[in-house]
Amino acid sequence: MSLLVILAHPDLAQSRVNKALKVALEPMGVTISDLYALYPDFKIDIASEQDKLIKAKSLVFQFPMFWYSCPALLKQYFDDVLTYGFAYGSKGKALADKTFALAISLGAREGDFQGKFSLESVLTPFRAISHFIGTKYAAPFLTYDTGNLSDTALQAQARGYQEWVKGLA
Ligand SMILES: Cc1cc2nc3c(=O)[nH]c(=O)nc-3n(C[C@H](O)[C@H](O)[C@H](O)COP(=O)(O)O)c2cc1C
Repeated sequence: MSLLVILAHPDLAQSRVNKALKVALEPMGVTISDLYALYPDFKIDIASEQDKLIKAKSLVFQFPMFWYSCPALLKQYFDDVLTYGFAYGSKGKALADKTFALAISLGAREGDFQGKFSLESVLTPFRAISHFIGTKYAAPFLTYDTGNLSDTALQAQARGYQEWVKGLA
């Protein structure tokens, strides 16, 4: 399956949700780029990451929501890897027409986004990145209310993640 998961969790050993979701994908033959394991010093191997992006048809960015955004290393990844002439610019078409999908875990409940800030508005920068680099933005896979998720609900969520990933490939 030509699917690349770019995983950004700063402490996967202590993670419950993202670790379970990662484990669910391991038997599925997808490539998982665990950014914090690969680049604890934030020095990203740009050529290697661009090579992985070129080889994949679908790109999944998996992370816990941190302050209405992503963990810092994923922001660094966007800054360093999505370069002019590669991801954008008149000759930067390397990612055009690939699928761009977010898999986000949130402490918040779904209803928490029914007030002033919808989740869609919070995710606008990611959607804008996807648009800018010419990828197709897929509906995100969301795990809400992580602090109250039972083991059974987490297992169901992990199975749902497998199905969602299959649907992207
Ligand atoms: C620094 C920090 C910022 C966070 N910001 C948010 C946030 O803005 N919105 C939210 O719903 N949850 C937020 N959370 C909760 C995390 O998203 C939640 O703990 C995580 O998704 C759980 O996944 P895990 O078990 O893989 O760690 C934050 C957590 C931390 C540590």
